[in-house]
Amino acid sequence: MQRFGDEELRYLQQVIDSQKLGSHHGDMTPAVEERFARKWGAQYAICVNSAMSGLHMAVAAAGVGPGDEVICDPVVHFGACAVMYNNGVPVFADIDPYTFTIDPASIRRCITERTKAVICTNLFGLPCDYDPIMQVAAEHGLIVIEDNAQAVGATYKGKYTGSIGHIGVFSFEQSKQLATGDGGMCITSDKRLHDEMRITRLIGWLPEKRGDPAERWRQGRLGWNYRNTEMVAAVLMGQLDKADTILQNHRAAGAILNEALEGCRWLLPQRVPEHCTHTYWVYGCRFEGEKVGVELHDFQQLAAREGLSASYHYTTLTAAAIPLFTEVRAYGRGCPLNCPLYEGQVSYGVEQTPRCQELLDRLVLVGFSAWDLDFCKRQAECLSRIREAVE
Ligand SMILES: Cc1ncc(COP(=O)(O)O)c(C=O)c1O
Repeated sequence: MQRFGDEELRYLQQVIDSQKLGSHHGDMTPAVEERFARKWGAQYAICVNSAMSGLHMAVAAAGVGPGDEVICDPVVHFGACAVMYNNGVPVFADIDPYTFTIDPASIRRCITERTKAVICTNLFGLPCDYDPIMQVAAEHGLIVIEDNAQAVGATYKGKYTGSIGHIGVFSFEQSKQLATGDGGMCITSDKRLHDEMRITRLIGWLPEKRGDPAERWRQGRLGWNYRNTEMVAAVLMGQLDKADTILQNHRAAGAILNEALEGCRWLLPQRVPEHCTHTYWVYGCRFEGEKVGVELHDFQQLAAREGLSASYHYTTLTAAAIPLFTEVRAYGRGCPLNCPLYEGQVSYGVEQTPRCQELLDRLVLVGFSAWDLDFCKRQAECLSRIREAVE
């Protein structure tokens, strides 16, 4: 099976035949939205041109504005950017050191009277721990946004991620499990959140009034143009035709490396809790070489000699310590972090999320490919040789 091939071409041909290339006019976008919502167990799906657009719309739909805080994942900064697009203030919670996902107890500690929402990243393809997250959100009336850009096909207690929080945001950028080159999707089962996002996706017009110039502004908001093209919807249709096989390949690739690292005390694959399935966008491990007297640098040299394809820097700094925040750069003049409407006091720096920084300093990403399981097997053999040398 080719990653992109006959399935995608068939739907692309339909789009060309229709002579309607914009989602304003065509039928492919509503069709793929309906199909996606059904597959992911949500009432509504809204196709967009990227996950960043989707996150922007999701944070807006959560009602976040100047002076509001949103609790964010500290490994990646995508959610925090979306908060600032809405003139809100990101507050970083720390992670669980072994699952690498946001720690519900840390979320609880970050809550203030200004908190409006939480953005949880299903990191590398693994779901966050949603039961306690939804519990704390319910107690404080917070909207939970799942950044599911990396985790298409992951499940938590039998439900697909993206459908567990109030809004789930997906990415179909080239490297993702389901890809359209660029593209994204927001899903929700909340009609109000859905209606808000439909409006902001389309320049702030009421979608059902867009043909009526006098009416379309009447209840509109400030919005953006985050429309996808019909070609993106067509490629996504093709990807959905073979989604089960693609996602199975991702799990199979992960399983090959898991087997090679079974029982390893010093190179610990991201821990997958019993009630979760991982969908392996990348394969992350925590290096604990001190248990066997091996420095990271020595491991890197050994790995290179044994032919292991690996990288050691996903991001070097916790999002809480990147200059965008520590130097209050934001829009170039500090806004919205120093907004006069903001009555809180937020701090940024490594010390805000030490467990995240510690993980990033020890993170090993073992190269793998869901499209080449033989490569994964060779990687597994390298890992076995490295283990023999170290242990
Ligand atoms: C966790 C996460 N969120 C958001 C994004 C942004 O996705 P997009 O490129 O579709 O805007 C990415 C991109 O890799 C991501 O990994």
